[in-house]
Amino acid sequence: MTQSDDAPRKLRSRAWFDNPENVDMTALYLERYLNFGLSLEELRSGRPIIGIAQTGSDLSPCNRHHLVLAERVREGVREAGGVCIEFPVHPIQETGKRPTAGLDRNLAYLGLVEVLYGYPLDGVVLTTGCDKTTPAALMAAATVNIPAIALSVGPMLNGWHKGERTGSGTIVWKARELLAAGKINDEEFIRLVASSAPSTGYCNTMGTATTMNSLTEALGMSLPGSAAIPAPYRDRQEVAYHTGKRIVDMVHEDLKPSDILTKEAFHNAIRVNSAIGGSTNAPIHITAIARHIGVDLPLEDWEKEGHDIPLLVNLQPAGEYLGEDYYHAGGVPAVVNQLMRHGLIHEDAMTANGRTMGDNCRDATIEDENVIRPFDKPLVEQAGFIVLKGNLFAAAIMKTSVISKAFRERYLSDPDQPDVFEGPAMVFDGPEDYHARIDDPSLGITPKTLLFMRGAGPIGYPGSAEVVNMRAPSYLITEGLGSLPCIGDGRQSGTSGSPSILNASPEAAANGGLALLKSGDTVRIDLRNGTVDVLIDDAELESRRKTLMEAGGYQYPESQTPWQEIQRGVVGQLDTGAILEGSEKYQRIAQTKGIPRDSH
Ligand code: FES
Ligand code: MG
Repeated sequence: MTQSDDAPRKLRSRAWFDNPENVDMTALYLERYLNFGLSLEELRSGRPIIGIAQTGSDLSPCNRHHLVLAERVREGVREAGGVCIEFPVHPIQETGKRPTAGLDRNLAYLGLVEVLYGYPLDGVVLTTGCDKTTPAALMAAATVNIPAIALSVGPMLNGWHKGERTGSGTIVWKARELLAAGKINDEEFIRLVASSAPSTGYCNTMGTATTMNSLTEALGMSLPGSAAIPAPYRDRQEVAYHTGKRIVDMVHEDLKPSDILTKEAFHNAIRVNSAIGGSTNAPIHITAIARHIGVDLPLEDWEKEGHDIPLLVNLQPAGEYLGEDYYHAGGVPAVVNQLMRHGLIHEDAMTANGRTMGDNCRDATIEDENVIRPFDKPLVEQAGFIVLKGNLFAAAIMKTSVISKAFRERYLSDPDQPDVFEGPAMVFDGPEDYHARIDDPSLGITPKTLLFMRGAGPIGYPGSAEVVNMRAPSYLITEGLGSLPCIGDGRQSGTSGSPSILNASPEAAANGGLALLKSGDTVRIDLRNGTVDVLIDDAELESRRKTLMEAGGYQYPESQTPWQEIQRGVVGQLDTGAILEGSEKYQRIAQTKGIPRDSH
C-alpha cells in the first residue's frame, strides 16, 4: 500500500521528541524542553515547533520592537496549533557595530544556520529590520531550507524638524554640509540628526533597511503589504499575529524557501528595487541570498533587468517623503501592481501566503500619487543600476539616476559625449586618511576632481564599510559645491543619494587595480560603455604592480579579533555577495543532509 497523500508528514522535530527507535535520547531531549515550561502534550502531539529568530535587543535598537512583536507572533502560532520557541540571533546594528556591521552579517548567518539545522525546529519566523539582519536571516533560511517567513519590524515614524521631514541618515549627509559651512554648531548638528529618529523602528528613509524589507516582500518571503508598516502602528502588531499563524500552515504545506526563491522571484526583486529607488547595498545582499539558494544571478542582471525601470517611490534620499508616507500610499503591493501592468513582474512567483505575487498585488492601488507615482509619471525614467568595469576593477555599480545636470556639465570632457567624464584622481586610504586631509587646500582638489576611497572592502576594512560617499572640501562647500564624484571598493549608505561608483571588486586589499592608482592620475568614466579606466599605459601599470607586490601587496590594518581573521581568509568580494566562499555548497541541508546525529 502506498502512503496516502493526506497522511500527516512526519515533522523534523519528531526526530527529537518522538523517536521510538531511541527512547533514551527522546527522553533526554524532552525533559530539557519540558524544563523550559512546555508540556508533554505540546511536545509529543506532533504540533509544528516554530522558532522565532529574534534579532531585537538593547544593542539593536532598530530591531528592538521585535521583543514586543514576538508576543503577537507567539499568539498567532498557538492559534494555528503550533508551539513557539524563541531564540536570539547574533546582534547586528548598522551604525553601532565597529569596525563594520558588514563583518557580522556572515557571522549571524553562520550562527543561524547552526540553530535552524541543529535544533528541533519545523519552521521559523525571521525577525528582520536593520540593514544586515534581513539578508543574514534570509541567507540562513535559504541554506537550511525549512519553511520560513520574514517579519519586518517596520520603519520609525517620520522625523520632523521645523516643519520639514528629516529622514534617517539622509539628514546626516545634509547636516554635515551645514556644519562644514559653519551654518550650525555641534549641538545643533546633533539635535538636527536626532530629530530623524522619533520612535522605535528602522531607518525611515529608503535606506538599506526599507530596501531589504521591501525586497523581502517582493521576493515573496513575507506577507503581502507587511514591509512598509511603521513599527509603532497597530497594523504591525496585527501582521505579526498573522505571520505567526501563517508559518504553521507553511509547515503543514511544506512551503520552503526553495519554492519561493526562484530566479523569477529574484528578477522581481531587482525590478522592484529600481522602482523604489533601493539601496546600492541591495545587489550585495540579494546576490548572497541567491547564491545560498542556488540561483544563478550575475551582477549584470541588475543592469539587464533593472536599469530601465522607472523610479516610482518618492522617498528620501532620492525624493521627499518617508516611511509613514510610503505605507499610506500603498507600500510594496502598489509598486508591484504598477510594474505588473507593464508586464514587468513574474506574476506566477509563489509567495509566503501560498498565493502568487500576481494574485497578491492585482488589486493593489496607489493611495497617494505624490508618494508613489503611477508608472507613466515617474520621478526618473531609468532608475536602476549600471555595472562598470575597467583597469581599476572588474565590477562596480552605480545608480545613474541621481546624476544631476549640473554635475554632468561640470565633468564633460566632450559635449558631444555627455556620458563621458574625465578628471584627476584624489586617492584616500580609508576614512581616517580622508578625514585628516580632505580640507587641506594643498591637495589641490578642484570641482573636477574624482575622489577615490580604497581599503574599504570586505578584506581591507574588514567587513566593507560605508565610507565611499565623501563630502567635498569645506572650501568648495562654501562656494556652493557639496559633492564630488566618489569611487571606491567599499559601500555607501543606502540613505545617501550621492552618485558614487561603489562596491568595486576586487578591492585594493585583494590587490585589485585600485591599489595601483595614484593621486593626480587622470581617470575616465564612460557611462555609455560601462567603463572606468585610469589613463596610463599598460607598461606603467605593470611596473606599479611589480612595485606593489614587492612591497608585500596593498597594506591594511591587522585583524583585531579572531572572527576578523577567519572571515578575511574566506570572504568573497562584493560583486559576488561577499559570502563565505565555500559555504554555498551547503544547500537545502534540511533535505540533502538529513537530520543531524544525536548529541549523546
Ligand atoms: Fe538600523 Fe538604519 S541603522 S535600520
Ligand atoms: Mg548603512
